[in-house]
Amino acid sequence: MARDTDPLEIGLTGFDLLNQPMLNKGTAFSEEERDAFDLHGLLPPHIGSLEEQAARRLAALRSYQTPFQKYAFLRDLQDANETLLYKLLVHNVEEMLPLVYTPTVGEGCQRFSEIWHKPRGLFLSFPNRHRIAEILAHPRYDGVRAIVVSDGERILGLGDQGAGGMGIPIGKLSLYTAIGGIHPSGALPILLDLGTDNQALLSNPIYIGWRHERVRGQAYDDFVETLVSAVAKRWPHVLLQFEDFAGSNAGRLLERYRDRLCTFNDDIQGTAAVAAGTLLSAINVTGTKLTEQRIALLGAGAAGIGICSMIRQAMVDAGLGLPEAQSRFYAVDINGLLVEGMADLRAMQTPFVQKKSAVAGWRLEQPGRIGLLDVVANAKPTVLIGVSTQPGTFTETIIKTMARNCERPVIFPLSNPTARAEATAADLMKWTEGRALIGTGSPFPPVERNGKKIPVDQTNNSYIFPGVALGVIASRARRVSDGMFMASAKALAALSPAAKDKEARLMPPLDEIRAVSVAVAIAVARQAQAEGLAETTTPEALKQMVLDHVWEPAYRPYIRKPG
Ligand code: NAI
Repeated sequence: MARDTDPLEIGLTGFDLLNQPMLNKGTAFSEEERDAFDLHGLLPPHIGSLEEQAARRLAALRSYQTPFQKYAFLRDLQDANETLLYKLLVHNVEEMLPLVYTPTVGEGCQRFSEIWHKPRGLFLSFPNRHRIAEILAHPRYDGVRAIVVSDGERILGLGDQGAGGMGIPIGKLSLYTAIGGIHPSGALPILLDLGTDNQALLSNPIYIGWRHERVRGQAYDDFVETLVSAVAKRWPHVLLQFEDFAGSNAGRLLERYRDRLCTFNDDIQGTAAVAAGTLLSAINVTGTKLTEQRIALLGAGAAGIGICSMIRQAMVDAGLGLPEAQSRFYAVDINGLLVEGMADLRAMQTPFVQKKSAVAGWRLEQPGRIGLLDVVANAKPTVLIGVSTQPGTFTETIIKTMARNCERPVIFPLSNPTARAEATAADLMKWTEGRALIGTGSPFPPVERNGKKIPVDQTNNSYIFPGVALGVIASRARRVSDGMFMASAKALAALSPAAKDKEARLMPPLDEIRAVSVAVAIAVARQAQAEGLAETTTPEALKQMVLDHVWEPAYRPYIRKPG
């Protein structure tokens, strides 16, 4: 792999060079480069450094009032000078993460049509379906290593955002680079535009997407199949991540394609791993074994079922039989607790139905329907996880009931963005008299506990997926297995500050997240090798392979390509 100081041979000059975000250095082009690339006059005379530029951009960013303005500013910077964008991101992760990803990316998707003005990634629309292979064939995409694809139907907890969903693949891949160190030129965001059922978008004159109701059924499946076949043929080793598909498609697509190429769904597997990793860190503090936990879930959708499946596997790894592990889950969806024989159960939910006999003697608030309060009052869960997209559903009564039966309740309101959270961290602390161990989906300000301000741990997938991507790409793994996600969860838990000091926070601070990613990547690559999914190496070679793939934002010197 080329080192950051090796000169790059460049054929472009003048405007064409300055308009290439991956090559542009703005005022940091040296005098010699300005001579060689016909840049005199196009740039102001001052010759700056990347550090100076980053300081200037940071000051400009901070002068904006709203997160959305900051998001739009960072998107513009990405389209003007990628190295500079990543310099800002890498050195200010905690400040930047909520701007380039959740929660602000939600508004970024809702208002995508207002700010779109330069091509980034690929919009593959239904009317263009016969052109997919041709579009991917362009030599511009020869170096692609990682793709994030969305169809925009379930953006965070905000529903169908149509073509605006492109904000998600762009944002996610920014984190592949900022956190996982994947070279930005190897990242390709793709939005599958199969229409939208969002009437507000369809009637918005500035909407940039295909104005058509969503294509569904066989035509939808054929379209996705065309994409996946074309991708697998074009880049046999590529990592293809599905993101923010509706629950009904997310699990189905993952099952269909996970044995055909290197693919994963972060909403399902990444969320599962970060939630499991946070839970392993939390029970280290509570001192109760994993095999003794009783887990209540609100929202048995893609994320919820993924989380339960991984925690169940961790329980089995820790010695429980599968039926016993399964019986420890109480999954509540829109029609109440999932119980045997219930109408409208989805296939993915069936492993987590409770036996009728297990709930037979329960006292219920409302006969005939078992709600979350009933579950909390009767099953006395030790862990409560929310991925329902429904704000305020962890009510004071529910939380106080849980806290009456459990000394250190573990509570994860994970729905994003912030406005969708099942409860705020401050309320959870108040209602449990500071006893709750909390992990949130979106960032929350610090909360008071025993007179001290405690940072709120964000159960952020960013602790997992960039490291998984790095491990998969560096090891050239052929597939992404559940075992690799389990390895990532355990690697994360091993880095929990609370593992050493029970008073400390559950998750490593965000400013250490690049180091977390490297540790996760090493664990993932090791697991891929152990499962025969990647070529075996010595542990030292494996570590080096991972480190060699970590890109640091820096300007390389340019020399003019002859001819
Ligand atoms: P999904 O649409 O597949 O699942 C949501 C589920 O909640 C559905 O099964 C729905 O029927 C159920 N639901 C809706 N209203 C309910 C109610 N009042 N009571 C009980 N259940 C209800 O969506 P997915 O992918 O599972 O995501 C859910 C939420 O989790 C989203 O807000 C998403 O942003 C968030 N999420 C958070 C992550 C994190 O913080 N690390 C990662 C992935 C998702």
